Amino acid sequence: MAIDTVGVVGAGAMGSGIIEVVARNGLKVVAREISPEAVEAGKTRVEGSLEKAVSRGKLDEADRAATLANIVWTTDFDELAPSDLVIEAVVENLDLKAEIFKALDSVLDADAIMATNTSSIPIIDIAMATSRPEMVCGIHFFNPATVMKLVEVISTQRTSPEVISVVTDFATNVLGKRVVPAPDRAGFVVNALLIPYICQAIAMFEAGHASAEDIDAAMQLGCGHPMGPLTLADMIGLDVCLFTEESLHAEYQERFLAPPPLLRRMVSAGKLGRKSGEGFYTY
Ligand code: 3HC
Repeated sequence: MAIDTVGVVGAGAMGSGIIEVVARNGLKVVAREISPEAVEAGKTRVEGSLEKAVSRGKLDEADRAATLANIVWTTDFDELAPSDLVIEAVVENLDLKAEIFKALDSVLDADAIMATNTSSIPIIDIAMATSRPEMVCGIHFFNPATVMKLVEVISTQRTSPEVISVVTDFATNVLGKRVVPAPDRAGFVVNALLIPYICQAIAMFEAGHASAEDIDAAMQLGCGHPMGPLTLADMIGLDVCLFTEESLHAEYQERFLAPPPLLRRMVSAGKLGRKSGEGFYTY
């Protein structure tokens, strides 16, 4: 199972980062989005990040050009057919993901690996939409995917050990990430720790315990975190934080995992963080 061509379905915040990481490491990427407008938005994200990498001295002009040349953008699902590995990174909706995996099942070769970047949907539920759940696993990147050095690789009760070994080798030796294997449980390792922490910070803010700026400064300066929890929540997206905390709560039934009311209200109000222009801060 050699991986030469990687398909990525979805070019939002996570998908575009994954497209960039794979293409920067010299592989061909087929990047599929739902509409020409979504393709344009994905391209703009990748180009913006490459621009930033060049301006920070992380990439030279030749590598930027080579990265862009490695990416084929398409709205046509069938163009994913030559992929050895497809990584799905669309919104957190089981019906949509199941539909995508069914379609992948019908276009990909028998030995192609199908992976999801879901952060909170049980991967076995996605895998069982296909006729080959042994070829399905989770590969969970962190935002921004170009910078964060971790990838969680998730095995379900059906995933073949060979698939896990190929994906682990790919993430480690081709993408240069540190892999942490994780079980198919809500939150895996990172989000099971991170999202309750963020929700505690939101609850603390809601209770008037401290201002948003002070909570963030406390964790940044007191614990050496690169960003405080409310800034990070805005970066992740408050809808994603809510969905993940709800998944943790549903899975473990612990009261402390119930999302804080303020988080629900902000999501209902369309205050989703950076992507909507307003969250705990304005952008
Ligand atoms: N390409 C390559 N390198 C880049 C880059 C890019 N597009 N953008 C930034 N960098 C590099 C910089 O050169 C710098 O490298 P250096 O330390 O070697 O000089 C480093 O990344 C940090 O950059 P900056 O200091 O300039 O800070 P930025 O403002 O650009 O980015 C950050 C900061 C990397 C986002 C940092 O604040 C951070 O690490 N925050 C925490 C992020 C985090 O926790 N992410 C996980 C979220 S959880 C998740 O994703 C899971 C999901 O399921 C919810």
